[in-house]
This record gives sequence, structure tokens and C-alpha cells, in this order.
Amino acid sequence: MMKTKMMTMKTARVKKKNELQLFTSKDVMNRFLELANPWIKKLGTYEPGRPIEEVARELGFEDASVISKLASNENSLGPSPLALKAMCAAARTMHRYPDGNAYYLKKAISAKIGVNPAQVLPANGSNEVLEFIGRVFLGPDSGIVMADRAFVVYKLIAAAFQASVVSVPMKDYTHDLTAMLAAIKPGTRIVFIANPNNPTSTMVDEKALDKFMYNVPENVIVVIDEAYIELLPPSGQPDTLKYVKQDRNVILMRTFSKTYGLAGLRIGYAIAPEACISLLNQVRQPFNVNSMALAAAEAALKDDSYVERTRKMISEGIVFFEKEFQRLGLSYVPAVVNFMLVEVGNGRKVFERLMKERVIVRPMDSYGLPGHVRITIGMKRENMKCIRALERVLPREK
Ligand SMILES: Cc1ncc(COP(=O)(O)O)c(C=O)c1O
Repeated sequence: MMKTKMMTMKTARVKKKNELQLFTSKDVMNRFLELANPWIKKLGTYEPGRPIEEVARELGFEDASVISKLASNENSLGPSPLALKAMCAAARTMHRYPDGNAYYLKKAISAKIGVNPAQVLPANGSNEVLEFIGRVFLGPDSGIVMADRAFVVYKLIAAAFQASVVSVPMKDYTHDLTAMLAAIKPGTRIVFIANPNNPTSTMVDEKALDKFMYNVPENVIVVIDEAYIELLPPSGQPDTLKYVKQDRNVILMRTFSKTYGLAGLRIGYAIAPEACISLLNQVRQPFNVNSMALAAAEAALKDDSYVERTRKMISEGIVFFEKEFQRLGLSYVPAVVNFMLVEVGNGRKVFERLMKERVIVRPMDSYGLPGHVRITIGMKRENMKCIRALERVLPREK
């Protein structure tokens, strides 16, 4: 009896020629695997930061606010207040489809950064821009060059489009642009540079980028992922828009997920020469960005005081964490934006133990850094809670 019940749980029922057939879940898996495109079978999956609600449920808390999430480089201040107001107003029009051409948002972005609206393409998070890039430019005969500790989604996208990947070792946890230039070979279609880079929180300066851009072969597209750029003080932000204005082979990627606190809405954008934007535009869904996101992003662009408060929280957070890591004798990578890479022994174990202390950080084994965790800089009380939890966890770890 018991055995039959167990079997039913593990099997799927499929009717075939009026008979009831039982398949094990392995059979079903194999059947679908046989039907899938062969290269899909080999794809890895992205391990996102653990959601607060899920961790709270696991730990038996009804109130998810007892958990501090310092795992996904989000903005702990919450959404930009101007964006919040715009979202409330936009809620009244949710029975309508969005403006599929994102007219007002493109206009607002282009006015803010000084490009033409035709050089901007909004997307469902900058991750969607990566997908467009894959659809337009990558295939079995092409390849990408990236840094070995750069944002992991680049290689997942390459694999999804059967492109090959060359991973170039970083130097001092920073993109080594000279080595990346040397790694370009005949099939290379795209070079990805995350600047600042996740998960290392390091960056290359404008001079190094200029040198790279002026030496890169003409048949290669350089994607500069600037997900964190607005978190830098304006004087420290490399001017990459000039490459777009010069019609170079460049695609810049930016997002409202980090600086503007809108990660849950999914909105980012590409900036590129008009000819390139037209191609990316061809492979998107008609309504890829929802109307609440369009309204919120447009409003967030005006919220300079929120961006200022965010930058202040981060610079104070960096000073705090550096001092505390030094006190605890932990080595860390000096950070330029809202997250820090710190060496803790066994990163996955520390991640799991911190979770029990109600703090979620990010293990780094998927980046080839099993001894590290990445900690997002949050508000003062969250940062202090994280350090206190680390102090409890580390002695058990060592
Ligand atoms: C370097 C980098 N690029 C892109 C993204 C994707 O951001 P989103 O899709 O939320 O715009 C992230 C998110 O963590 C990131 O760290």
C-alpha cells in the first residue's frame, strides 16, 4: 500500500491507447531532454540571491522583515519616492497596454544623458538587453570575450546562443583590458566589460577604456555594462557616451534596478548607435516594458536627492565595512560601489550560517571564488547586523 502511494507520487500518468501508463519522473525528464535543442541540455542556471520571504518561511518566521537581504545589490532605501508616486498614479491605467515605443521614457533618458532618443532602447531589465544582444549578434560561429570574474550572465547568454566563451583572468580582481584585447580572435563578435564589475566592485577608468576602444578590431562589438554607474560620484563616471556619439561598435547597458531602487519592476535600457538600436528593437516583444515601469523610471530620473542619499549611504557603508573587515582580520577587495567581496574561509558555509542569523549574502563559488562571499551595502543598521552575525559565524567556520 505504502509502496504504491510512493510510486504514484514519483510518477506521471499519461494516457496512451486507452491504457493508463506510468512513467517515472526520470522517464519524463529524458523524454523532454530528447526533444530539447542539444545545446540547451548543457546550459547552467543562474543562482539568484535568495528571496527574503523564502528564507523567512524556511526559518519559521511569519514576518519577513526580520530578514536582512544583502544579497542582490539592491537599494536598501526602497524605491525612489518620486517613482513610487508615479507608480500609484500609473496603477489606474493598468487596463491599457503600455506605450510599446516607450516614447516619454526614451525622451527623458536621452535628455538626461545627452543622446538622441533613437539611440536608446528600454528593456525588461538590462538582462533583457543581454538577451537581445544574443539574438542579434551571437550564434554557433561566434564567440564572446569576457573577464573570468565578470557578471556570470554573459556566459549563460553565450551558451544559450551556442557562442563560444573566452574567459580572461582578471588582474587584482579588475578587468585586464590589455589581456582581453589580446584574447580577441577571428570569430569574436562581442567583448563584455562590466564597469563597475559585479561581483568584484572594481572598475577600469576612462583612459583604459579609451585605449581599449581605439584598438579593438572594427568587426567586434564592445558591450559596456554600466548597471552601477550612477552610484559613482559624477566626476568618477567614465564618459562612455562619447563612443555612442562617435557611432563606434558599442552598446552601453544601464538599469533602474540598482541606483533607482526599482529591481522588482524590471526596467533597464541599452544606449547604442541608432543602427544598432534598430536591430535590437527588431527582436523584442511589442510590449516588453510594462507601463508602471515606464512611469516609474521616468519619474526616478528626476529624483536627484534620492540618488544623492543613496551615494551617501554607500560611501559610508564602504568605510564601515572596510574598518570592520580589518578589525576581523578578513581580506577584502576595495569597493567602488554598493557591494563588497570578502574572503571568509568557506563561502557557502558562511552564507548558510549567516542565513540562520537572518542575514542573506551571496556565496561566490559560481564565480570560482569559493572562499568569498559578496555583501551588498545596506543601511547602517543592516550593515551592523551583518557584521555582528559574521562575528558569531566566523569562529565556528575557522
Ligand atoms: C553587472 C550587472 N549587469 C546587469 C545586471 C542585471 O540587472 P537588471 O536585469 O536588474 O537590470 C546586474 C544585476 O545584478 C549586474 O550586476
